[in-house]
Amino acid sequence: MKNIDSNNHVQGKSIFIDDITVSQNSLYAVPFCSTIANGKILSINLSEALKLVGVIDIFTHNDIPGENQIGAIIQDEELLAEKAVHFIGQPIAIVVAETELIAIKARELIQIDYDELEPITDVRIAKKKNSLIAPPRKFELGNTDSAWENCPFVYTGTVKSGGQEHLYLETQGSYAIPLENGNIKIFSSTQGPTVVQKIGAKVLGISMNNIEVDVTRLGGGFGGKEDQATPWAVMAMLSAHKLNKPVKLVLSRYDDMYMTGKRHPYETDYKIGLSEDLKIIAFEAEYLQNAGAAADLSPAITERTLFHSTNSYFIPNVKATVYSCKTNLPPNTAFRGFGAPQSIFVIESAIKNVANQLNIPAREIQEINFLKEKDEFPYGQIVSDVELQSIWQTAHNNFNFYDLEKSVCDFNDENDLNKRGVSFIPITFGISFTNTMMNHARSLVHIYQDGSIGISTGAVEMGQSVNTKMIQVASNVLSVNTDRIKIESTNTTRVANTSPSAASSTADLNGKAVEIACKALLTRLVGIAGQILSTEVEDINIHNEYVFHKNKKTNIKWEELVWEAFTRRINLSESGHYFTPEINFDKNIEKGHPFAYHVYGVAITTVTVDCLRGNYEIESVKIIHDFGKSMNQEIDNGQIEGALVQGIGWVTMEEIVFDDKGTLQSKALSTYKVPDLYSAPKSIQIVPLDGRGSDKAILKSKAVGEPPFIYGIGSFFAIQDAISVFNPDYIPKYEAPMTPEKVLLGLYQKK
Ligand code: MTE
Ligand code: HPA
Ligand code: MOS
Repeated sequence: MKNIDSNNHVQGKSIFIDDITVSQNSLYAVPFCSTIANGKILSINLSEALKLVGVIDIFTHNDIPGENQIGAIIQDEELLAEKAVHFIGQPIAIVVAETELIAIKARELIQIDYDELEPITDVRIAKKKNSLIAPPRKFELGNTDSAWENCPFVYTGTVKSGGQEHLYLETQGSYAIPLENGNIKIFSSTQGPTVVQKIGAKVLGISMNNIEVDVTRLGGGFGGKEDQATPWAVMAMLSAHKLNKPVKLVLSRYDDMYMTGKRHPYETDYKIGLSEDLKIIAFEAEYLQNAGAAADLSPAITERTLFHSTNSYFIPNVKATVYSCKTNLPPNTAFRGFGAPQSIFVIESAIKNVANQLNIPAREIQEINFLKEKDEFPYGQIVSDVELQSIWQTAHNNFNFYDLEKSVCDFNDENDLNKRGVSFIPITFGISFTNTMMNHARSLVHIYQDGSIGISTGAVEMGQSVNTKMIQVASNVLSVNTDRIKIESTNTTRVANTSPSAASSTADLNGKAVEIACKALLTRLVGIAGQILSTEVEDINIHNEYVFHKNKKTNIKWEELVWEAFTRRINLSESGHYFTPEINFDKNIEKGHPFAYHVYGVAITTVTVDCLRGNYEIESVKIIHDFGKSMNQEIDNGQIEGALVQGIGWVTMEEIVFDDKGTLQSKALSTYKVPDLYSAPKSIQIVPLDGRGSDKAILKSKAVGEPPFIYGIGSFFAIQDAISVFNPDYIPKYEAPMTPEKVLLGLYQKK
């Protein structure tokens, strides 16, 4: 089935926040934000700004009727700064005017005085000063302390990875409409409608049932709208509530880039020990996560960093510790992979370092250490349904590693100024929210009198095509055509208490809820068909829009059956509730079974480095991926391609730069380079593994949203290898992104 939005998207007909028809009396809001990274607010003078014609009002923390608190996990973030500011871009006031332009002009007239303090931007300094978001977390397996003496090979190192701008095409935005009796309806570009509803109610001092959040779709989220759509939505609601007029707040690209948080940069020290036969015996890592000025989702992200510290390998002795460091940068947040790409980059760097020291391909170490059935993850879950061996074998069968490596060698022998490198990245990604309580979802399915169907779920469409998948699920269970089925907007009055659409789990959780509701409706309809045909329900089934009796097609069509059911006063609506069975995790002992299942894969990346210029091209990425039984191979391939290129961007060219005052330097697309078509791999081959799937995946079709981001890491190591071929003096540093500048310096580095 084709993505249901594809036609409208390419014709510009799809509706995003900025396309909603606004009512005539609507007002426009822009945030006024801090220009210093740390300090006290001494005074703020709004009078000049308020004088500007067309300005309606300016709200500060004094205007908040409820609590000035938007922290979701830890209550450490004000909606509007009261006495102090902690990062550049922190909202202090909301300017509301008749037009957006007037509001922007007015905010330039606000006068503010600060008592400026020294900011912290560096994680090592933050850790030394004990500036932490939460106490450190530690996952342990075996005993690393006593393991080192049994390791003939022991290496240490430091790995750094940078931040990443989400760059969703649609910036953060919302449109709030006041209704009667103090109620509010808000359209928000959010992955978490319930988060917006809950925090909005808290800030406005009203109940959750006073707020209706509605989401048609997002022009991309990538994690950046799991938590960070909330402040802008709440500001719009607050303004609408105060003024009793609709208020729209859509961030400009510039505001969005400097006010919102990004992927967390990490700095990690590790120690790795191997036996003579290259078994990894022990691994220690101390991850320093740059959380920024408030917790946001950082505590949950530290958790996933630890869960993926050993990637696809069984290591009997592990000690992984993570410090979430509080700095004076915008609070960093969820971004595809949720802290896992960062720790997988560390273990892969450690393995690569060992391989370089021993002068062997990293592939040999990877292969020997793959997880096997019944191995234990450092967090206690026992490995089952592992696909790594079969993936590796499939990869070798399809692409023959030796031929591939030889062709790279041959190329390098024949070319002086262009050099190639190749790398292998296996992935193992846990599917479920690591916070067990979040793993549930609901659906509401209506069959109308004419046989058409409307489905509501808690799933938010953000380009990942979850709505298309929901239609496929309903169509599959009811055996009706997909064009009978409409997906409604995601709305908190129809489906309440939703988890954010995140953790790659949206299709699984909401799809299972749709499946449950549809099965209940089907049972009812089959019962009616049994009555009509005066026969046992066991003999009835519905197939391709017709009632079948003893597997023979009858002349009762779907819509006739539905109408019959209606006339017999049968309920044609049903809600479904699903929660992932079996999962659990005990944070006190840091052990449990947090994931419904794992997704596996491998990417083989070949790059060519231009050794005069320091440019590089990704020649090819060959992927064997464990989709389970994909319910939509084209959509899933699209997810792989998008995630891969996003991952390549993260480790090769996207460089977030803050100066030591905490000012974002890379604040526009002129200074922040994201992959374009020319930097995408020339060839992407995706071979689905003939895998077993999982019963906890919807229709056995495994989650696919985040895991393939990690394939992008391969380009980093492949580029390094190419540099090493050209320059034997090159000493690799494991610091992403590997920008062309760094490549050029590497190519001409001297001993
Ligand atoms: N694909 C598109 N086109 N746009 C997005 O914003 N977000 C990613 C991924 N794929 C995203 C995307 C992230 S971060 C997640 S967690 C998943 O989609 C969320 O959707 P899913 O749970 O349905 O996979
Ligand atoms: N992944 C993504 N988003 C989340 C998670 C998670 O595990 N937990 C809370 N939000
Ligand atoms: Mo995705 S980072 O879980 O929104």
